[in-house]
Amino acid sequence: MIQVKNNCNIRILIYIIILLISGQLVSCSQTVQNKTRERVSIDFNWKFQLGDNQKAFEENFDDTSWRVLDVPHDWSIEGNYDANNPAGISGAFLPVGIGWYRKNIEIKNLQDDDKYFVEFDGVYMNSEVYLNGQLLGKRPYGYISFSYDLTPYLKEGENSLAVRVDNSEAPSGRWYTGSGIYRHVWLTKTSNVYVPRWGIEVISTIVSKNSATIKVKGELKNETGKPQKIEVVSRVLDALSNEVALVKNDVSIDDEGSFNQEIELKNPRLWSPENPAMYTLETKLFINGKLRDTYNIPFGVRSIELKGSKGFYLNGKSIKFKGLSNHHDAGPVGSAVPDDVLYQRLKMVKNMGCNALRTTHNPFSPEFYTMCDTLGIMVMDEAFDGWFKAKAEHDYGNYFKDWWQRDLADFIKRDRNHPSVVIWSIGNEVRNFQSEDQKIIVDFIKDIDSTRPITQGSGYSAPYIDIAGFNGHGENKGALEEYHEEYPNKLIIGTEMTHTLQTRGVYRTKTWYRTKDNPAPWEKPAHFKKMEHKVYKISDLSNNEVFPDITRKYQSSYDNSIVRIGVRDDWNRVENSDYYIGNFRWTGFDYLGESFGWPARTANFGIIDLAGFPKDHYYLYQSLWSDEPMVHMLPHWTHKGKEGVKIPVVVYTNCDSAELFLNKVSLGEKEMTAERQLVWHVPYEKGELKVIAKKSGKNICEQTYTTAEKKHALVLNSNKVNIKANRTDVVRLEVSVVDANNIMVPDANNDILFSVTGPGKIIGVENGNILDLSPHKVNYRKAFNGKCLLLVQSTGSKGVIHIKATSNNLKSSEVKISAN
Ligand code: GAL
Repeated sequence: MIQVKNNCNIRILIYIIILLISGQLVSCSQTVQNKTRERVSIDFNWKFQLGDNQKAFEENFDDTSWRVLDVPHDWSIEGNYDANNPAGISGAFLPVGIGWYRKNIEIKNLQDDDKYFVEFDGVYMNSEVYLNGQLLGKRPYGYISFSYDLTPYLKEGENSLAVRVDNSEAPSGRWYTGSGIYRHVWLTKTSNVYVPRWGIEVISTIVSKNSATIKVKGELKNETGKPQKIEVVSRVLDALSNEVALVKNDVSIDDEGSFNQEIELKNPRLWSPENPAMYTLETKLFINGKLRDTYNIPFGVRSIELKGSKGFYLNGKSIKFKGLSNHHDAGPVGSAVPDDVLYQRLKMVKNMGCNALRTTHNPFSPEFYTMCDTLGIMVMDEAFDGWFKAKAEHDYGNYFKDWWQRDLADFIKRDRNHPSVVIWSIGNEVRNFQSEDQKIIVDFIKDIDSTRPITQGSGYSAPYIDIAGFNGHGENKGALEEYHEEYPNKLIIGTEMTHTLQTRGVYRTKTWYRTKDNPAPWEKPAHFKKMEHKVYKISDLSNNEVFPDITRKYQSSYDNSIVRIGVRDDWNRVENSDYYIGNFRWTGFDYLGESFGWPARTANFGIIDLAGFPKDHYYLYQSLWSDEPMVHMLPHWTHKGKEGVKIPVVVYTNCDSAELFLNKVSLGEKEMTAERQLVWHVPYEKGELKVIAKKSGKNICEQTYTTAEKKHALVLNSNKVNIKANRTDVVRLEVSVVDANNIMVPDANNDILFSVTGPGKIIGVENGNILDLSPHKVNYRKAFNGKCLLLVQSTGSKGVIHIKATSNNLKSSEVKISAN
């Protein structure tokens, strides 16, 4: 460091002036070093205590007795289901409360021109963050990502970060929310000349087949205390990190400023669900040749166009949304979802043929959007459930008035560079909203990002959204048609269609309608003159119920447990009209909460259960949405006591036809029709039921069910044999109860005990049974309809994880996973 002494003579002064002119010195007291941005995870080793403590924010508070844990962490999912827990039906009867987290951050070699920021991906809810006893800020919205500048209170050496989380007023959502620091936390270091968080926008425009224009709009901060001339150098890197374009310009700023750049990208690879090509924009800031910041943004090149009544066009081609609505929780891990688990879930829906997800009804974790970018999943990115009026007593509606602009701006700026985000949604079934409010919110977004269309779940009654979003009302017969007649140029999207219900492995042959069995008062939505409350009928599969003995709390897995329309009729509507551009099913995965009441903890809307096991609907969607040849048959073929009874056997396939065989005897071949399923009524006899799906007469794929005999053993199937010893990766172990021939026993519900030794720990057990209220962070679980799930996370050390599943009178099963 160069110091200027008071007695410096003329020669020294001249030397300093030369250095200043040549850019090697910005101040008489400090040389400028090359500096780049550093971002590290600070997920590990937090101290946690459930319950409030007035002094826990203090710098020297003694937290030695507190529990040590890693975030993401959700304390609600660690608790017990209890009918008296205040979150009630909405929160799946799990506990809420107030919790404190503390963490020491060690800062080495703190420089005058260092800036430090802490970044929270999400804290549920009402967080207050303190550094060294000083309040940095509060954020009520539990789904928003936020950050604080630590620099003013930071010192070299140990610093204490404390976070109070208040989810004590319940219910704070209409669904399970989780509680705590349930997403990642980051520490970012920059110099004092930097790009503020989410401060760069990348807009790509396809000019021709061979060229795209990339517009870069950036914000700059200068905290050096004097004007600076900054050279901004932006490079576009392809997926292999090769530079494919470069632009630079100089910007002079005082405390803050902005820059605009335009880059021509030759022969761009376009982003689409089929081919999710990604680029990175790397922006570097230099002052007098010294690097001051590097800011990287992954982005994609793609175009979106709404063509009147003709459809939604991506890169010039019409595309239909094969979508799922999802909440953010993931079964036994609650809302603290390890990235690995999230990735497995996204892969699973992608493999089904799904090309779009709706983030009901709030922002998701940043990692979610990055994964959707690279997997090729379009996102309808939803900001809020309601607006000014709370929908659950203590939800964000109580804070909306004061916070929506801040939260919405942060949300849009955070997500605007993801090519996967193709539609913004500003709300869901907002109660008694005024058209003017819709306009204000839409205009607010368009000011920040005008490149994407905006919708609203059930927001079709006001004119300011670009695409009319229909929830349940749209499931009524004639609703979409009537709306289209009135607004022929407005596209319709099923923001929440269709709702059907299913319990894995449960079958009933008579159709069930939610409103018929459980009549709800019907009011014609104000907007409609003709629409009647008419459901799309699904015929019973038999005159008398074939499976009468199953509790009514479970729902049938033949697509016949419906609210107003089944999956097949709704997809026929999508395929048969250009203006109806697709739907987001309610929901992809079962989510905790919003059940029909104790003792159910979920309502079974998902096509995949809480354990991540697909229900039959998964394969129905696959037959409608995927081009990969597939065939799926239901139900299973173990129906002791039903000998001679005609069992409806339903086949889903995307092939042209299928032939069914019982014990090698053909029961005939059927051509696929607009009914989207093939049905045989097969008198039950034990043995082997096989289906062969065909295209142009050629056998393409097949599936076989064999009648299970006596329960004999457990089988553990893991999704990997190697796991990273990084304290975050997760191995998914599916446990099946099988007979002596390895055939799953479809009604097995045995108690299973797990032992895990070595560098792995149990982070969740689950079986998908909506009525099973046993806890998740334990080493036991009952099987439900033949299966259950165990999630094991690496603890960070290398070695072999031994996992064993045992059950009385059954042969046990063991697997070894290497943690490297
Ligand atoms: C919708 C609502 C969803 C969910 C669903 C259950 O009306 O938008 O969030 O509550 O009902 O049927």
